[in-house]
Amino acid sequence: MKPAIDQLTAQFAADVRADLSSTPKQLQSKYLYDALGSSLFDAICRLPWYRITRAESALLARHADAIVTSIGKANGTIVELGCGSGEKLVLLAEALQARGASAHVHLIDISPQAIEHTEQRLTRLHLSVVGHQSTYEEGLRQAAAARRGDGRMLVLLLGSNIGNFDTPAAHAFLRRIRAAVSPGDFLLLGADLAKPELDLIDAYDDPLGVTAAFNKNLLVRINNELGGDFDLAAFDHVAVWNAADQRIEMHLVSRVAQRVRIPAAEMTVSFEAGERIWTESSYKYEPEQIVAMGASAGLASRNQWVDTDVGFALTLFAAV
Ligand code: AVJ
Repeated sequence: MKPAIDQLTAQFAADVRADLSSTPKQLQSKYLYDALGSSLFDAICRLPWYRITRAESALLARHADAIVTSIGKANGTIVELGCGSGEKLVLLAEALQARGASAHVHLIDISPQAIEHTEQRLTRLHLSVVGHQSTYEEGLRQAAAARRGDGRMLVLLLGSNIGNFDTPAAHAFLRRIRAAVSPGDFLLLGADLAKPELDLIDAYDDPLGVTAAFNKNLLVRINNELGGDFDLAAFDHVAVWNAADQRIEMHLVSRVAQRVRIPAAEMTVSFEAGERIWTESSYKYEPEQIVAMGASAGLASRNQWVDTDVGFALTLFAAV
């Protein structure tokens, strides 16, 4: 049997080829999270300028009881889409145990390291944990299929991971979550709110340069995995607030006119000086937009907890 890694590399090569041939040039943000990228993202979450993670954890800690009450005592299922390092899930798992309740936990992440870290964290809590290294859609399908009995399901989409979807895709994704669950099941959605541009630039172009390293790691991956010859010093990280579309964008800007060879993608890419590769969009919301987006997908807002200082909202939806 061919190792799975070959397939993943082939997919990476095909995506790189298509996305660097398009106008504007782009790379998919899901490829930011290899082992090094996941570690850099964990470091971002500790930066003073990136406040999403701390704000969300504080809201979760404060409201964990109200949240886990939603899934009842027996046969509950918790599905986390994009589990990261699992710190937030631990908060909910502890609240569950304090109530004498249990749940089956499904971890869905593109990064095997993220799943492994989360599994390690959850082991000591004696929960049954299944990891799925897959896309959100595929993992959600598998978790729903593995469901047993009449317990409730709680889907977690935290950390403002929804922010990577453009508006139509975010709507479609919420509808897909709604289709995968049953009436009376829940979605807990953590989303970053629109805020002053300078705060966003500090968060996505931090003075320590960690986010720049996180972004440029995409080029490191292309060099290591696809034999590329990107000169990292010839690209700059930029973060841009796109007010019309309510999103922060990350780009890599070519400092000079240059050609880059990527043998495994069977291509040579030409850049003009100043030309960009668009690597991520991170949409920001108003609290009401989050409620409305859920409603149009068949998810009724049951509770919304907002950190008005940081600008972050945790919204608990029930499937109707
Ligand atoms: C994990 C997608 C929520 O958009 O804030 C952090 C990723 N990018 N810094 C975000 C990210 C740059 C993060 N998400």
